[in-house]
Amino acid sequence: MKNILFSIAYLVTIFANDAVDSLDQVGINDSEKRALIFGITGQDGTYLTKLLLEKGYHVYGSIRRTSLDNLKSLKHYLGSDFITYKKNITLLYCDITDGVGVYRLINKIKPHEIYNLAAQSHVKVSFEKPAYTCQVDALGTAHILESIYSSGLGDFTRFYQASTSELFGLVQEIPQSEITPFYPRSPYGVAKLYSYWITKNYRESYNMYACNGILFNHESPYRGDNFVTKVIVKGVAAIKKGEIKKLELGNLDSKRDWGHAKDYVEAMWLILQQDIPEDFVIATGEMHTVREFVETAFKEVGIEIIWKGTGIDEVGINAQTDEVVVSVNPRFFRPSEVDLLLGNPKKAEEKLGWKRKVSFRGLVKEMLNFEL
Ligand code: NAP
Ligand code: GDD
Repeated sequence: MKNILFSIAYLVTIFANDAVDSLDQVGINDSEKRALIFGITGQDGTYLTKLLLEKGYHVYGSIRRTSLDNLKSLKHYLGSDFITYKKNITLLYCDITDGVGVYRLINKIKPHEIYNLAAQSHVKVSFEKPAYTCQVDALGTAHILESIYSSGLGDFTRFYQASTSELFGLVQEIPQSEITPFYPRSPYGVAKLYSYWITKNYRESYNMYACNGILFNHESPYRGDNFVTKVIVKGVAAIKKGEIKKLELGNLDSKRDWGHAKDYVEAMWLILQQDIPEDFVIATGEMHTVREFVETAFKEVGIEIIWKGTGIDEVGINAQTDEVVVSVNPRFFRPSEVDLLLGNPKKAEEKLGWKRKVSFRGLVKEMLNFEL
Protein backbone atom coordinates (compact mmCIF):
# COMPACT_ATOMS: atom_id res chain seq x y z
CA MET A 1 0.00 0.00 0.00
CA LYS A 2 2.82 2.37 1.02
CA ASN A 3 4.56 1.57 -2.27
CA ILE A 4 1.44 2.33 -4.31
CA LEU A 5 0.95 5.68 -2.55
CA PHE A 6 4.61 6.49 -3.08
CA SER A 7 4.29 5.67 -6.79
CA ILE A 8 1.21 7.87 -7.18
CA ALA A 9 2.91 10.78 -5.42
CA TYR A 10 6.02 10.29 -7.55
CA LEU A 11 3.94 10.18 -10.75
CA VAL A 12 2.18 13.42 -9.83
CA THR A 13 5.53 15.11 -9.18
CA ILE A 14 7.30 14.00 -12.33
CA PHE A 15 4.27 14.57 -14.52
CA ALA A 16 4.01 18.14 -13.33
CA ASN A 17 6.03 20.92 -14.93
CA ASP A 18 8.92 20.45 -12.54
CA ALA A 19 9.86 17.50 -14.74
CA VAL A 20 12.05 20.13 -16.39
CA ASP A 21 15.55 20.48 -14.93
CA SER A 22 17.80 23.48 -14.57
CA LEU A 23 20.90 23.30 -16.74
CA ASP A 24 23.11 24.71 -13.98
CA GLN A 25 22.15 21.85 -11.70
CA VAL A 26 22.55 19.06 -14.22
CA GLY A 27 25.38 16.68 -13.48
CA ILE A 28 26.97 14.66 -16.29
CA ASN A 29 27.86 11.03 -15.67
CA ASP A 30 30.78 10.22 -17.95
CA SER A 31 30.05 6.50 -17.96
CA GLU A 32 26.64 7.08 -19.63
CA LYS A 33 25.99 7.29 -23.34
CA ARG A 34 24.29 10.68 -23.81
CA ALA A 35 21.79 11.53 -26.56
CA LEU A 36 20.29 14.99 -26.91
CA ILE A 37 16.98 15.32 -28.74
CA PHE A 38 15.81 18.72 -29.96
CA GLY A 39 12.05 18.26 -30.42
CA ILE A 40 11.56 15.50 -27.83
CA THR A 41 7.89 16.40 -27.31
CA GLY A 42 6.81 15.72 -30.91
CA GLN A 43 5.72 12.49 -32.57
CA ASP A 44 9.21 11.29 -33.51
CA GLY A 45 10.77 12.54 -30.27
CA THR A 46 8.31 10.36 -28.38
CA TYR A 47 9.26 7.16 -30.21
CA LEU A 48 12.97 7.97 -30.36
CA THR A 49 13.13 8.60 -26.61
CA LYS A 50 11.80 5.15 -25.82
CA LEU A 51 14.10 3.50 -28.34
CA LEU A 52 17.18 5.22 -26.91
CA LEU A 53 16.18 4.49 -23.30
CA GLU A 54 15.78 0.81 -24.19
CA LYS A 55 19.27 0.90 -25.68
CA GLY A 56 20.64 2.25 -22.39
CA TYR A 57 21.17 5.92 -23.28
CA HIS A 58 20.63 8.83 -20.94
CA VAL A 59 18.24 10.97 -22.97
CA TYR A 60 18.40 14.76 -22.74
CA GLY A 61 15.49 16.57 -24.36
CA SER A 62 14.85 20.20 -25.20
CA ILE A 63 11.39 21.41 -24.36
CA ARG A 64 9.72 24.76 -24.95
CA ARG A 65 8.02 26.65 -22.16
CA THR A 66 4.31 26.45 -22.82
CA SER A 67 1.33 27.44 -20.70
CA LEU A 68 -0.17 23.98 -21.11
CA ASP A 69 1.42 20.55 -20.92
CA ASN A 70 3.45 19.61 -24.00
CA LEU A 71 4.71 16.34 -22.51
CA LYS A 72 1.41 14.55 -23.14
CA SER A 73 2.62 12.18 -25.88
CA LEU A 74 5.81 11.25 -24.10
CA LYS A 75 4.04 10.52 -20.83
CA HIS A 76 1.32 8.54 -22.57
CA TYR A 77 3.73 6.46 -24.65
CA LEU A 78 6.12 5.73 -21.79
CA GLY A 79 3.14 5.13 -19.47
CA SER A 80 4.19 3.51 -16.22
CA ASP A 81 7.70 3.07 -17.66
CA PHE A 82 8.07 6.84 -17.21
CA ILE A 83 8.86 6.22 -13.53
CA THR A 84 11.45 3.55 -14.31
CA TYR A 85 13.03 5.68 -16.96
CA LYS A 86 12.82 9.13 -15.35
CA LYS A 87 16.30 8.89 -13.87
CA ASN A 88 17.58 8.48 -17.42
CA ILE A 89 15.61 11.39 -18.90
CA THR A 90 16.66 14.99 -18.39
CA LEU A 91 14.38 17.67 -19.80
CA LEU A 92 15.75 21.15 -20.33
CA TYR A 93 14.22 24.35 -21.66
CA CYS A 94 15.56 25.35 -25.04
CA ASP A 95 14.25 26.93 -28.20
CA ILE A 96 16.48 26.36 -31.22
CA THR A 97 15.93 29.91 -32.43
CA ASP A 98 17.97 30.93 -29.35
CA GLY A 99 21.57 30.33 -30.45
CA VAL A 100 23.08 31.06 -27.03
CA GLY A 101 20.67 28.66 -25.33
CA VAL A 102 21.53 25.92 -27.84
CA TYR A 103 25.25 26.49 -27.27
CA ARG A 104 24.89 26.34 -23.46
CA LEU A 105 23.02 23.05 -23.70
CA ILE A 106 25.44 21.34 -26.05
CA ASN A 107 28.55 22.68 -24.35
CA LYS A 108 27.34 21.44 -20.95
CA ILE A 109 25.95 18.03 -21.93
CA LYS A 110 28.60 17.15 -24.50
CA PRO A 111 26.31 14.56 -26.08
CA HIS A 112 27.57 11.55 -28.00
CA GLU A 113 24.61 11.95 -30.34
CA ILE A 114 22.31 14.84 -31.22
CA TYR A 115 19.01 14.38 -33.05
CA ASN A 116 17.55 17.59 -34.50
CA LEU A 117 13.84 16.85 -34.76
CA ALA A 118 12.77 20.36 -33.76
CA ALA A 119 10.77 22.15 -36.43
CA GLN A 120 7.69 24.08 -37.39
CA SER A 121 6.73 20.91 -39.21
CA HIS A 122 3.43 21.79 -40.89
CA VAL A 123 3.71 22.52 -44.62
CA LYS A 124 0.50 24.56 -44.93
CA VAL A 125 1.31 26.61 -41.81
CA SER A 126 4.68 27.47 -43.37
CA PHE A 127 2.84 29.51 -46.02
CA GLU A 128 1.30 31.57 -43.19
CA LYS A 129 4.58 31.92 -41.29
CA PRO A 130 7.41 31.71 -43.82
CA ALA A 131 9.99 33.79 -41.95
CA TYR A 132 9.34 32.10 -38.62
CA THR A 133 9.56 28.69 -40.30
CA CYS A 134 12.93 29.74 -41.68
CA GLN A 135 14.14 30.85 -38.21
CA VAL A 136 13.34 27.44 -36.75
CA ASP A 137 13.77 24.96 -39.61
CA ALA A 138 16.83 26.54 -41.22
CA LEU A 139 18.71 28.78 -38.77
CA GLY A 140 17.97 26.50 -35.82
CA THR A 141 20.02 23.78 -37.50
CA ALA A 142 22.94 26.17 -38.02
CA HIS A 143 22.80 27.03 -34.31
CA ILE A 144 23.16 23.37 -33.40
CA LEU A 145 25.93 22.55 -35.87
CA GLU A 146 27.94 25.65 -34.98
CA SER A 147 27.51 24.92 -31.27
CA ILE A 148 28.87 21.40 -31.74
CA TYR A 149 31.83 22.74 -33.70
CA SER A 150 32.67 25.71 -31.49
CA SER A 151 32.37 23.59 -28.31
CA GLY A 152 35.23 21.49 -29.66
CA LEU A 153 32.91 18.51 -30.12
CA GLY A 154 33.31 18.30 -33.89
CA ASP A 155 35.07 14.94 -33.76
CA PHE A 156 33.03 13.58 -30.85
CA THR A 157 29.32 14.35 -31.31
CA ARG A 158 27.32 12.64 -34.04
CA PHE A 159 24.53 14.73 -35.55
CA TYR A 160 21.26 13.66 -37.16
CA GLN A 161 19.21 16.15 -39.19
CA ALA A 162 15.50 15.50 -39.78
CA SER A 163 15.45 16.12 -43.51
CA THR A 164 12.35 15.43 -45.50
CA SER A 165 10.83 14.14 -48.72
CA GLU A 166 9.32 17.64 -49.05
CA LEU A 167 12.76 18.53 -50.49
CA PHE A 168 11.72 16.63 -53.65
CA GLY A 169 8.52 18.70 -53.92
CA LEU A 170 7.81 18.93 -57.64
CA VAL A 171 9.39 15.55 -58.18
CA GLN A 172 12.04 15.23 -60.85
CA GLU A 173 11.87 11.42 -60.96
CA ILE A 174 9.79 8.56 -59.57
CA PRO A 175 10.66 7.03 -57.16
CA GLN A 176 12.91 9.50 -55.33
CA SER A 177 16.29 8.41 -54.02
CA GLU A 178 19.42 9.98 -52.48
CA ILE A 179 20.47 11.25 -55.92
CA THR A 180 17.17 12.74 -57.08
CA PRO A 181 17.43 16.55 -57.55
CA PHE A 182 15.47 18.68 -55.09
CA TYR A 183 12.62 21.06 -55.98
CA PRO A 184 10.94 22.25 -52.75
CA ARG A 185 7.42 23.68 -53.03
CA SER A 186 6.79 25.44 -49.73
CA PRO A 187 8.54 27.76 -47.27
CA TYR A 188 8.90 24.63 -45.11
CA GLY A 189 10.62 22.72 -47.92
CA VAL A 190 12.89 25.65 -48.72
CA ALA A 191 13.93 26.09 -45.07
CA LYS A 192 14.62 22.36 -44.79
CA LEU A 193 16.74 22.58 -47.94
CA TYR A 194 19.08 24.98 -46.13
CA SER A 195 19.32 22.53 -43.23
CA TYR A 196 20.07 19.65 -45.57
CA TRP A 197 22.97 21.52 -47.15
CA ILE A 198 24.37 23.06 -43.96
CA THR A 199 24.51 19.57 -42.45
CA LYS A 200 26.40 18.28 -45.46
CA ASN A 201 28.59 21.37 -45.41
CA TYR A 202 29.73 20.87 -41.78
CA ARG A 203 30.45 17.23 -42.63
CA GLU A 204 32.62 18.17 -45.59
CA SER A 205 34.24 21.28 -44.05
CA TYR A 206 35.06 19.97 -40.57
CA ASN A 207 34.91 16.24 -41.09
CA MET A 208 32.00 16.02 -38.64
CA TYR A 209 29.77 12.96 -38.37
CA ALA A 210 26.65 14.85 -39.53
CA CYS A 211 23.94 13.12 -41.56
CA ASN A 212 20.58 13.73 -43.16
CA GLY A 213 17.76 11.24 -42.89
CA ILE A 214 15.49 12.12 -45.82
CA LEU A 215 12.33 10.73 -44.34
CA PHE A 216 9.07 10.29 -46.20
CA ASN A 217 5.76 10.83 -44.37
CA HIS A 218 5.48 8.79 -41.21
CA GLU A 219 2.52 8.67 -38.92
CA SER A 220 1.32 7.13 -35.65
CA PRO A 221 -1.25 7.66 -32.90
CA TYR A 222 1.00 10.52 -31.72
CA ARG A 223 0.78 12.39 -35.03
CA GLY A 224 -0.12 16.09 -34.66
CA ASP A 225 -3.85 16.82 -34.95
CA ASN A 226 -3.69 18.84 -38.18
CA PHE A 227 -1.87 16.35 -40.44
CA VAL A 228 -4.14 14.59 -42.91
CA THR A 229 -3.88 11.04 -41.50
CA LYS A 230 -4.82 12.22 -38.02
CA VAL A 231 -7.63 14.41 -39.37
CA ILE A 232 -9.01 11.34 -41.18
CA VAL A 233 -8.83 8.83 -38.32
CA LYS A 234 -10.21 11.33 -35.81
CA GLY A 235 -13.07 12.16 -38.22
CA VAL A 236 -13.89 8.53 -38.99
CA ALA A 237 -13.88 7.61 -35.29
CA ALA A 238 -16.16 10.56 -34.47
CA ILE A 239 -18.57 9.58 -37.28
CA LYS A 240 -18.59 5.98 -36.04
CA LYS A 241 -19.37 7.17 -32.50
CA GLY A 242 -22.17 9.43 -33.84
CA GLU A 243 -20.40 12.60 -32.66
CA ILE A 244 -20.22 14.23 -36.11
CA LYS A 245 -21.87 13.57 -39.46
CA LYS A 246 -19.16 14.53 -41.94
CA LEU A 247 -15.43 14.90 -42.43
CA GLU A 248 -14.01 17.84 -44.45
CA LEU A 249 -10.72 17.49 -46.31
CA GLY A 250 -8.59 19.28 -48.91
CA ASN A 251 -6.82 17.63 -51.84
CA LEU A 252 -7.97 14.00 -52.09
CA ASP A 253 -5.72 13.22 -55.06
CA SER A 254 -2.48 13.85 -53.26
CA LYS A 255 -0.24 10.77 -53.11
CA ARG A 256 2.08 9.96 -50.24
CA ASP A 257 4.48 7.21 -49.14
CA TRP A 258 3.22 6.68 -45.58
CA GLY A 259 5.13 4.65 -42.99
CA HIS A 260 5.03 4.24 -39.20
CA ALA A 261 7.07 6.61 -37.00
CA LYS A 262 8.20 3.73 -34.78
CA ASP A 263 9.97 2.11 -37.74
CA TYR A 264 11.45 5.43 -38.85
CA VAL A 265 13.12 6.36 -35.56
CA GLU A 266 15.02 3.07 -35.74
CA ALA A 267 16.46 4.29 -39.04
CA MET A 268 17.51 7.58 -37.39
CA TRP A 269 19.50 5.69 -34.79
CA LEU A 270 21.05 3.36 -37.38
CA ILE A 271 22.18 6.34 -39.48
CA LEU A 272 24.31 7.50 -36.55
CA GLN A 273 25.89 4.06 -35.93
CA GLN A 274 27.75 3.64 -39.25
CA ASP A 275 31.51 3.80 -39.92
CA ILE A 276 31.09 6.58 -42.47
CA PRO A 277 28.54 9.44 -42.18
CA GLU A 278 26.09 9.41 -45.09
CA ASP A 279 22.60 10.61 -46.01
CA PHE A 280 19.74 8.14 -46.42
CA VAL A 281 16.23 8.07 -47.87
CA ILE A 282 13.80 6.33 -45.51
CA ALA A 283 10.52 5.27 -47.11
CA THR A 284 8.25 2.29 -47.66
CA GLY A 285 8.40 2.32 -51.47
CA GLU A 286 4.58 2.21 -51.54
CA MET A 287 2.29 5.07 -52.46
CA HIS A 288 -1.38 5.77 -51.67
CA THR A 289 -3.76 8.66 -52.31
CA VAL A 290 -5.49 10.59 -49.53
CA ARG A 291 -8.70 9.11 -50.96
CA GLU A 292 -7.38 5.57 -50.38
CA PHE A 293 -6.45 6.46 -46.81
CA VAL A 294 -10.04 7.63 -46.28
CA GLU A 295 -11.49 4.44 -47.81
CA THR A 296 -9.22 2.20 -45.73
CA ALA A 297 -10.09 4.00 -42.49
CA PHE A 298 -13.85 3.80 -43.13
CA LYS A 299 -13.54 0.13 -44.10
CA GLU A 300 -12.00 -0.59 -40.69
CA VAL A 301 -15.25 0.55 -39.06
CA GLY A 302 -17.41 -1.33 -41.55
CA ILE A 303 -18.37 1.58 -43.80
CA GLU A 304 -17.94 1.34 -47.56
CA ILE A 305 -17.39 4.65 -49.36
CA ILE A 306 -18.69 5.50 -52.82
CA TRP A 307 -17.24 8.64 -54.44
CA LYS A 308 -19.45 10.96 -56.48
CA GLY A 309 -18.72 14.24 -58.29
CA THR A 310 -15.39 15.86 -59.11
CA GLY A 311 -13.13 18.65 -57.85
CA ILE A 312 -14.52 20.67 -54.98
CA ASP A 313 -17.92 19.04 -55.53
CA GLU A 314 -16.63 15.54 -54.89
CA VAL A 315 -18.23 13.75 -51.94
CA GLY A 316 -17.76 10.41 -50.22
CA ILE A 317 -21.04 8.62 -49.55
CA ASN A 318 -21.73 5.89 -47.01
CA ALA A 319 -22.85 3.05 -49.31
CA GLN A 320 -25.13 1.57 -46.63
CA THR A 321 -26.96 4.77 -45.57
CA ASP A 322 -26.52 7.03 -48.61
CA GLU A 323 -25.32 9.83 -46.30
CA VAL A 324 -22.48 12.18 -47.31
CA VAL A 325 -19.63 11.49 -44.88
CA VAL A 326 -16.75 13.21 -46.71
CA SER A 327 -16.66 16.53 -48.56
CA VAL A 328 -13.97 18.81 -49.97
CA ASN A 329 -13.21 22.19 -48.41
CA PRO A 330 -10.83 24.39 -50.46
CA ARG A 331 -9.73 25.98 -47.16
CA PHE A 332 -7.30 23.07 -46.84
CA PHE A 333 -5.71 23.55 -50.28
CA ARG A 334 -2.14 24.86 -50.42
CA PRO A 335 -0.81 27.69 -52.63
CA SER A 336 1.43 25.10 -54.27
CA GLU A 337 1.02 21.38 -53.76
CA VAL A 338 3.36 18.40 -53.68
CA ASP A 339 1.33 16.03 -55.81
CA LEU A 340 3.18 12.81 -55.19
CA LEU A 341 5.96 11.39 -53.08
CA LEU A 342 7.34 7.88 -53.44
CA GLY A 343 10.67 6.92 -51.91
CA ASN A 344 13.22 4.30 -52.83
CA PRO A 345 14.59 2.84 -49.56
CA LYS A 346 17.13 0.53 -51.29
CA LYS A 347 20.25 2.22 -49.88
CA ALA A 348 18.89 2.14 -46.32
CA GLU A 349 17.87 -1.49 -46.68
CA GLU A 350 21.25 -2.53 -48.02
CA LYS A 351 23.60 -0.41 -45.90
CA LEU A 352 21.67 0.01 -42.67
CA GLY A 353 19.82 -3.30 -42.77
CA TRP A 354 16.67 -1.25 -42.13
CA LYS A 355 13.25 -2.44 -43.22
CA ARG A 356 9.83 -1.06 -42.41
CA LYS A 357 7.71 -3.43 -40.32
CA VAL A 358 4.25 -1.81 -40.27
CA SER A 359 2.12 -2.07 -43.42
CA PHE A 360 -0.15 0.71 -44.74
CA ARG A 361 -3.25 -1.12 -43.50
CA GLY A 362 -1.59 -1.84 -40.14
CA LEU A 363 -0.81 1.86 -39.75
CA VAL A 364 -4.38 2.98 -40.52
CA LYS A 365 -5.77 0.34 -38.18
CA GLU A 366 -3.51 1.30 -35.26
CA MET A 367 -4.23 5.02 -35.64
CA LEU A 368 -7.97 4.42 -35.88
CA ASN A 369 -8.12 2.05 -32.91
CA PHE A 370 -6.29 4.65 -30.84
CA GLU A 371 -9.02 7.20 -31.63
CA LEU A 372 -11.83 4.73 -31.05
P1 NAP B 1 6.27 17.34 -34.64
O1 NAP B 1 5.40 16.31 -34.01
O2 NAP B 1 5.66 18.57 -35.19
O3 NAP B 1 7.39 17.75 -33.55
C1 NAP B 1 8.19 18.87 -33.71
C2 NAP B 1 8.98 19.09 -32.44
O4 NAP B 1 9.77 20.28 -32.61
C3 NAP B 1 8.12 19.32 -31.19
O5 NAP B 1 8.77 18.72 -30.10
C4 NAP B 1 8.14 20.83 -31.05
O6 NAP B 1 7.94 21.27 -29.73
C5 NAP B 1 9.56 21.12 -31.47
N1 NAP B 1 9.81 22.51 -31.83
C6 NAP B 1 9.10 23.29 -32.68
N2 NAP B 1 9.64 24.50 -32.77
C7 NAP B 1 10.71 24.50 -31.95
C8 NAP B 1 11.68 25.47 -31.59
N3 NAP B 1 11.65 26.71 -32.08
N4 NAP B 1 12.65 25.13 -30.70
C9 NAP B 1 12.68 23.88 -30.16
N5 NAP B 1 11.80 22.93 -30.47
C10 NAP B 1 10.82 23.23 -31.34
O7 NAP B 1 7.13 16.70 -35.82
P2 NAP B 1 7.50 15.16 -36.10
O8 NAP B 1 6.45 14.57 -36.98
O9 NAP B 1 7.84 14.50 -34.81
O10 NAP B 1 8.79 15.33 -37.00
C11 NAP B 1 10.07 15.46 -36.42
C12 NAP B 1 11.00 16.14 -37.40
O11 NAP B 1 11.08 15.40 -38.61
C13 NAP B 1 10.57 17.54 -37.81
O12 NAP B 1 11.74 18.31 -38.00
C14 NAP B 1 9.88 17.34 -39.15
O13 NAP B 1 9.96 18.52 -39.93
C15 NAP B 1 10.71 16.22 -39.72
N6 NAP B 1 10.02 15.31 -40.64
C16 NAP B 1 8.84 14.74 -40.30
C17 NAP B 1 8.23 13.85 -41.16
C18 NAP B 1 6.92 13.20 -40.81
O14 NAP B 1 6.27 12.67 -41.72
N7 NAP B 1 6.53 13.16 -39.54
C19 NAP B 1 8.85 13.50 -42.37
C20 NAP B 1 10.08 14.09 -42.68
C21 NAP B 1 10.67 14.98 -41.80
P3 NAP B 1 6.47 21.61 -29.14
O15 NAP B 1 5.91 20.32 -28.65
O16 NAP B 1 6.77 22.57 -28.06
O17 NAP B 1 5.68 22.21 -30.27
N1 GDD C 1 -3.00 18.61 -43.35
C1 GDD C 1 -3.97 18.32 -44.23
N2 GDD C 1 -5.29 18.50 -43.87
N3 GDD C 1 -3.62 17.84 -45.43
C2 GDD C 1 -4.61 17.52 -46.30
C3 GDD C 1 -5.95 17.66 -45.99
C4 GDD C 1 -6.32 18.18 -44.71
O1 GDD C 1 -7.48 18.34 -44.35
N4 GDD C 1 -6.69 17.22 -47.03
C5 GDD C 1 -5.83 16.83 -47.97
N5 GDD C 1 -4.55 17.00 -47.54
C6 GDD C 1 -3.34 16.72 -48.32
C7 GDD C 1 -2.30 17.82 -48.32
O2 GDD C 1 -2.64 18.83 -49.28
C8 GDD C 1 -1.05 17.04 -48.68
O3 GDD C 1 -0.95 16.89 -50.08
C9 GDD C 1 -1.29 15.67 -48.06
O4 GDD C 1 -2.68 15.62 -47.71
C10 GDD C 1 -0.46 15.40 -46.81
O5 GDD C 1 -0.58 16.51 -45.96
P1 GDD C 1 0.01 16.49 -44.46
O6 GDD C 1 -0.52 15.31 -43.73
O7 GDD C 1 -0.22 17.84 -43.87
O8 GDD C 1 1.56 16.18 -44.67
P2 GDD C 1 2.64 16.78 -45.70
O9 GDD C 1 2.93 15.72 -46.70
O10 GDD C 1 2.26 18.10 -46.19
O11 GDD C 1 3.90 17.00 -44.74
C11 GDD C 1 4.29 15.98 -43.80
O12 GDD C 1 5.23 15.12 -44.39
C12 GDD C 1 6.49 15.73 -44.76
C13 GDD C 1 7.34 14.63 -45.40
O13 GDD C 1 6.96 14.45 -46.72
C14 GDD C 1 4.88 16.70 -42.58
O14 GDD C 1 5.09 15.75 -41.56
C15 GDD C 1 6.21 17.36 -42.88
O15 GDD C 1 6.80 17.84 -41.67
C16 GDD C 1 7.13 16.31 -43.52
O16 GDD C 1 8.38 16.87 -43.82
